[in-house]
Amino acid sequence: MILTRDLTKNYGKASAVSNLNLKIEAGQFYGLLGPNGAGKSTTIHMLTTMTTPTSGEALVAGLQVSDNPVAIRRSVGLVFQDSALDRTMSVDENLLFAAAMYSLPPKEANPRIDELLSIFNLQHKRHDKLSTLSGGQRRAIDIARGVLHKPKILFLDEPTIGLDLPNRRAIWRFVEKLRHNEGMTIFLTTHYLEEATACDWVDFIMSGQLQHGGTPEKLIKELGAYILDITSPDPDAIKSQLTPQFGVPLEEYEQLSFKIPTDDVDFYQLQQVLGDAISSMQWRRPNLNDVYLWTYGC
Ligand SMILES: Nc1ncnc2c1ncn2[C@@H]1O[C@H](COP(=O)(O)OP(=O)(O)O)[C@@H](O)[C@H]1O
Ligand SMILES: [Mg+2]
Repeated sequence: MILTRDLTKNYGKASAVSNLNLKIEAGQFYGLLGPNGAGKSTTIHMLTTMTTPTSGEALVAGLQVSDNPVAIRRSVGLVFQDSALDRTMSVDENLLFAAAMYSLPPKEANPRIDELLSIFNLQHKRHDKLSTLSGGQRRAIDIARGVLHKPKILFLDEPTIGLDLPNRRAIWRFVEKLRHNEGMTIFLTTHYLEEATACDWVDFIMSGQLQHGGTPEKLIKELGAYILDITSPDPDAIKSQLTPQFGVPLEEYEQLSFKIPTDDVDFYQLQQVLGDAISSMQWRRPNLNDVYLWTYGC
């Protein structure tokens, strides 16, 4: 569905994306992960013909981006960090307006809008003004807008940024339902990395360069069995006790994070041994955010 060869975008002397080689199969849920300024949005802009690559090639839905901007824009759905909706209009008006831009006549657009609003449990909001919806509901309408024309690929550029946790979870339920109902390929960027766990494949990008990638399960499993977080008034004492067994921790102020490679550590016993040297201690399974922190630092 997406194939790139040495795709590159320079702004003056600065390189936003360098020699990107991607291959994304139809139906995949793909995640491009990295910090602010890494080149995620630029990649999406090149793949959706919104910006011209400096060099390299990209095929999207079998079409060369450089030769087929109109056809590509019909094949892709886009949801940006910034909403594309008009808050002074109703949900219905916003979606019918977007449908008209895709040349969808109201006879086709109306049942499609019903279908999407019911996926998002927002049927009852159809005639409400957008400004009366919650942030999460508005983001769901943005996604509905992005898929009105049944695109083959949906690009989601940090779709949950600025939302609180319950709303972020709701957005992920909607995306999952969409994927299930419509089988579309999804290209996601996010810096809430733990949210990309549902992806089939993730790649990390840093300063425009693609880093390592893999399935989330594999990357998390390779990291270790547990992450042990300890806060202590005397971090050096904790380090001298635990580093011989677990290696050098990540350190931030009074918090230490150890990577625990195996499943057989008795944390309760460890807690007793450390006793008063710790103010708090918790252990948990690693997530993709831990993979990122341990690989690339804070
Ligand atoms: N229109 C532009 N003009 C100049 N520099 C840009 C432009 N768009 C992006 N950049 C630069 O390219 C780099 C990658 O940006 P971007 O793709 O937006 O990153 P991300 O989406 O990962 O946060 C950044 O250093 C950014 O400042
Ligand atoms: Mg961005």
